[in-house]
Amino acid sequence: MIADRTSAEWADEEGGRGMPARNDLHPIPLPNELRSERLVLRPYRAGDAEALFAAVEASRQRLRPWLDWVDDFETFDHARAYVSGAINDWTRRRELFFGVFAVDGRYLGNTGLHNVDWSLRSFEIGYWLRDGAEGHGYAQEAVRRLTRFAFEDLHANRVEIRCDPRNERSRRVAERLGFVFEGCLRNSRQDPTGEPRDTLVYALVPGDWKPIGEDDPFDSGCSERGGIDGCSPEATRVSRTDGLAEGPPSHPGRLSSDIVVPKG
Ligand SMILES: CC(C)(COP(=O)(O)OP(=O)(O)OC[C@H]1O[C@@H](n2cnc3c(N)ncnc32)[C@H](O)[C@@H]1OP(=O)(O)O)[C@@H](O)C(=O)NCCC(=O)NCCS
Repeated sequence: MIADRTSAEWADEEGGRGMPARNDLHPIPLPNELRSERLVLRPYRAGDAEALFAAVEASRQRLRPWLDWVDDFETFDHARAYVSGAINDWTRRRELFFGVFAVDGRYLGNTGLHNVDWSLRSFEIGYWLRDGAEGHGYAQEAVRRLTRFAFEDLHANRVEIRCDPRNERSRRVAERLGFVFEGCLRNSRQDPTGEPRDTLVYALVPGDWKPIGEDDPFDSGCSERGGIDGCSPEATRVSRTDGLAEGPPSHPGRLSSDIVVPKG
């Protein structure tokens, strides 16, 4: 458990991951929220556990094939533990979980910056939407905003999206936002049933990304964009048809406190 660790243990672990030392309070300034046209992305608060649990309860069937924590996230206690773990991770800048809310306050799902490496300033974006929120462009809008935050405010060198080849909706989020397809990691994860499955890797680096208003790639989608060597949009198109979609999917998530979490 987080509370049981000593400062020295945290310092060792955090030093190894390029994380700020524990005693440095808020060494990296973060916003209270990120706003976009229809959404508010904000860190979790204790009072969010009910909305989170209700969202997972309503969405299990649709989330289960892609997210391997779903069946472990059984009770309201899991939601409470998740929220407190997310708050803790936010405070310590380990991982940045954002609840995705409509401007009227409805909880729509989750996104966040995971696999954080502060030395390299590299981040992986995850996302899921609750039943009823899919098909409105909310994931694109949230990921677009988070990507902008990563490059403009956190000075990211790399922002990644990973997904199962068969997860067409998730792939479309990455591709429509102009993330560059870099390759397929074969048999790199286990799916929720334990079978090996492939992982597609998409990423943006500063040279790919242009601020909003300057020929913004997020407005045009990736199909018009150039790629990096060997990973052009053409390569992306090839990946859709070349039989990569073999392995069952998952997208796991565990907080530093070993609580099952909807990272997504
Ligand atoms: C992955 C996931 C978040 C994608 O959600 P999504 O709603 O399909 O994604 P977007 O926000 O990009 O929405 C795009 C859809 O909204 C439609 N849409 C409606 N209004 C829109 C608008 N104003 N702007 C953009 N798109 C809009 C688009 O036409 C598109 O539909 P289509 O794909 O059928 O053409 C969702 O499917 C999900 O929660 N999946 C389960 C969890 C998961 O797989 N997570 C990712 C693990 S890697």
